[in-house]
Amino acid sequence: MSTEPVELPPLPGRCRSNLLIKTLLLIFIFAISFSVYFSGTWPTFIVLLDPVYPTNTELEHEPTENPFREMSVDDIMRSVWDDLPADGNFSSIESSSSGQHSVVNLEQPGAQYCVGDSLIVLVNMKDHRGNPKVHGGDFILARIHSPNLQASASGEVTDLLNGSYRVRFRLFWPGDVLVSVLLMHSSEAVGILRRISAHNYDKIIYTGTFYSGNKTEQSQCGIRLKADRPLCEYRKKEDAEYYACVRPKTLSCSTLRTMRSRNGPISNMARDERLLLSRKNIGIEMRNSFGPVKVISCPAGTHRPTEKCVAGFGMTSPSPSGYFFRNRWSSTSCQTGNFFSADAISRCLKGRNLKLMGDSTVRQWQETLIKTLKGLKYVNPYDTHYYALVVDPQRNITVQWKMHGHPFVTGYNVVKDAVGYIFREVDRVAVDDVVVIGVGQHFRPFPLEIFVQRLINMRKAILRLHKRSPQTLVIIKLENTRELDSDMTHLSDWFGYVQNLAQRKVFRDLKVVLVDAWDMTTAANTFAIHPNSMIVSNEIALALSHLCHDA
Ligand SMILES: *[C@@H]1O[C@H](CO)[C@@H](O)[C@H](O)[C@H]1NC(C)=O
Ligand SMILES: *[C@@H]1O[C@H](CO)[C@@H](O)[C@H](O)[C@H]1NC(C)=O
Ligand SMILES: *[C@@H]1O[C@H](CO)[C@@H](O)[C@H](O)[C@H]1NC(C)=O
Ligand SMILES: *[C@@H]1O[C@H](CO)[C@@H](O)[C@H](O)[C@H]1NC(C)=O
Repeated sequence: MSTEPVELPPLPGRCRSNLLIKTLLLIFIFAISFSVYFSGTWPTFIVLLDPVYPTNTELEHEPTENPFREMSVDDIMRSVWDDLPADGNFSSIESSSSGQHSVVNLEQPGAQYCVGDSLIVLVNMKDHRGNPKVHGGDFILARIHSPNLQASASGEVTDLLNGSYRVRFRLFWPGDVLVSVLLMHSSEAVGILRRISAHNYDKIIYTGTFYSGNKTEQSQCGIRLKADRPLCEYRKKEDAEYYACVRPKTLSCSTLRTMRSRNGPISNMARDERLLLSRKNIGIEMRNSFGPVKVISCPAGTHRPTEKCVAGFGMTSPSPSGYFFRNRWSSTSCQTGNFFSADAISRCLKGRNLKLMGDSTVRQWQETLIKTLKGLKYVNPYDTHYYALVVDPQRNITVQWKMHGHPFVTGYNVVKDAVGYIFREVDRVAVDDVVVIGVGQHFRPFPLEIFVQRLINMRKAILRLHKRSPQTLVIIKLENTRELDSDMTHLSDWFGYVQNLAQRKVFRDLKVVLVDAWDMTTAANTFAIHPNSMIVSNEIALALSHLCHDA
């Protein structure tokens, strides 16, 4: 039997009408309302909608004709929470969902499977006593894989809201296919994560250091601080970004130079709640009632995507967005190019400035390109905490990485002026540049609205960029999964999952490329904040497939 992937049937068009109605409704609600950010808990920080851009009231225009449609933080937040099921109410560990007691069944046992078919499994969730769960909300990740073929793909999980979950896989390659469904968090654990995150700005505590001459002072800083002491506030009204420090005793606010962070304690958690978020209850593989699934190549008219990869509107990519075969990722919606050799990559990047903006997961792109292309050399000064530029003068390629602005989670003393907001960087992008944005990991410990505010600022900057330079390619790299022994209260993948949902909503109508690192790392089961070079090389290849079509 051949082990090469054979042609696939076209993807079924997914029903988007519901989504469309929601989107239109969202825009409409927006157009008639005048929203206020950060109402409630934050007394002195109420910022009205940015008045620079006209509010759109016409719904029928194409996105390009209509570059400055507004979105508010509240709209996006509401839309994100609307998409998520109600979470469980924790009463005891015994009555919470248990990966060990739950079972995964085939929907149609005994069926024959061809490449291109869907494979559907049902998860019957049970609690720690073995009783069936009767509500949804569990956080589940699923994948199929064939280790000997280095092949894998994620599955699409549908919450049936009654304790059952349907997981749909597409079968991309012939062979013995294993199914693996992980209970990442019980719905009860998700409820705890939601509770301890809402309006909680203190999960990360910052220490700011002020310098003047030979004098230094330190004080507490934060993304929000209670205004019961004199504060130094760092904000720009027009972009609603803000942080503050307790005013130092003698030095002025403008002498703030560095900030570092540490984890703050989470006080309102019971012992059993902490247990629910400890490693032994995270990422538990549920038992399958069936063995490997045999998949064969069938002759029926099937084909692989023939479309070239182009930046498109919307994040309405199919699920899964692709699959690994022999450690190479193929997109399910367009032809992924073979951009793995130094030759192919440098031909594509010749004369280009690749501008990587965001956290260390996009710095990994730079590191991988340095290893692969050889000719790229660091230009001084560089600092792997914030900024690095590498240049290959012969091939005329530059790759710049810049860390995103506050907030960041690090014990390192980050120099305030060395990092900048991505939306300001985007305003400096030139026509020939290629922009890659990857954010999220450092936002996980903060309430969602902080991240959404930042995304909305980036959205505006991308719209401004595309107004002056419609052809400039903008690539959004979603968050990847991270270690299962991460500090869940601060860094759980559930936060990343929700943040990715927010990214899709904020960027959905922009002409951008989505590199779904979540989908890749779920398929490959990596659970590493810095995925291995196989993953990163495939992220780069997918991105370059949208820039060049000759590999
Ligand atoms: C949890 O409690 C809230 C408030 O009482 C309720 O609205 C929600 O439906 C409950 N969730 C579940 C899954 O039972
Ligand atoms: C949950 O609902 C689905 C479809 O609505 C049904 O097929 C399934 O049997 C239900 N599961 C339970 C445990 O009631
Ligand atoms: C700090 O600088 C001031 C004036 O520049 C000087 O008078 C003082 O002695 C210095 N202090 C220390 C501890 O070096
Ligand atoms: C390098 O590429 C830039 C475009 O990014 C172009 O303007 C410049 O002329 C190129 N230089 C050489 C030496 O090819």
